[in-house]
Amino acid sequence: MQVQFCGLTLDGCVYNASGPRTGSSDALAKVGSSKSCAILTKSATLLPQNGNPLPRTYTSPNFSINSEGLPNKSIDYYIDSETIKESVLDSGKPYFVSISGKSLDDNVEMMKRICKAPGVAGIELNLACPNVIGHPIIAYDMVQLRSALKTVASLSLPLPIGIKLPPYFDFIHYQKAAEIINEYKSTISYIVTMNTVGNTLMISPHSGSPVISPKGGYGGLSGPAVKPIALAQVRKFSELLDPSIDIVGVGGVQSGQDVYDMILCGAKVVQVGTCHWIEGPKCFDRIVEEFEEICRKNGVKELEEIRGKLKEW
Ligand code: DHB
Repeated sequence: MQVQFCGLTLDGCVYNASGPRTGSSDALAKVGSSKSCAILTKSATLLPQNGNPLPRTYTSPNFSINSEGLPNKSIDYYIDSETIKESVLDSGKPYFVSISGKSLDDNVEMMKRICKAPGVAGIELNLACPNVIGHPIIAYDMVQLRSALKTVASLSLPLPIGIKLPPYFDFIHYQKAAEIINEYKSTISYIVTMNTVGNTLMISPHSGSPVISPKGGYGGLSGPAVKPIALAQVRKFSELLDPSIDIVGVGGVQSGQDVYDMILCGAKVVQVGTCHWIEGPKCFDRIVEEFEEICRKNGVKELEEIRGKLKEW
């Protein structure tokens, strides 16, 4: 089923989240050869980075914790036509670049470079990374959120811009964030909700120490355990945002049913992160097939028939 998303026609509604298995052109090529309907990079910074000390990821059946600290090959790698040509652009799928600069100036510089590069379909501006030591989560600070969007608006960029948000937990915080995003509806084409639940802690019963090493063991929570949090984000933002702003649902998606639930809550498209990390890119084939089977069983021909149509009690 085709989906209209930020002015593009996508051949499906499931693609990869930024983060796991998205840092190299080889990894991105594997996403491109799967049933993922688009390709999205690891969040880039202006210069290459190695990230935080190891161990920086932990996984269990119900959840994962990471504090990678933005290891990436730099923006120039992800937009270099030689690096990404065969692997990414030849797949014919829309190619999105995620950025998470150390400062607003870095983000501006990266956005300008992306717009000069050929072949990029859109930019995901990450305002939600919890793992950079000494840097708070931008979109929890409404003053910073507004100033970031104001700056992006002033650039009048030719590409669709999405922003990645952290999870919110109180309705007043959703309202404040939505109010600011709505002010910039002519600049922001879509939101991606949500990033990991920041600064969570898990202890190894064997060692008695945190399961990851950076930041005293605090890291972003993802995987099946966060699905109810993610559904709430998508549902609440679909009530509050201007309908011109698309919603990308992400968090704990590992099955066709999870995709279906996200769309019932109002998602236009859905990203898969932790499951991609654990299962590899074949997860997109499985999840898409499961989703199509559920749609067939329910007689759904167009996603518009179910989008936002969560049944009330
Ligand atoms: C990282 C984690 C995130 O949740 C994110 O949005 C960006 C980067 C990381 O630790 O690399």
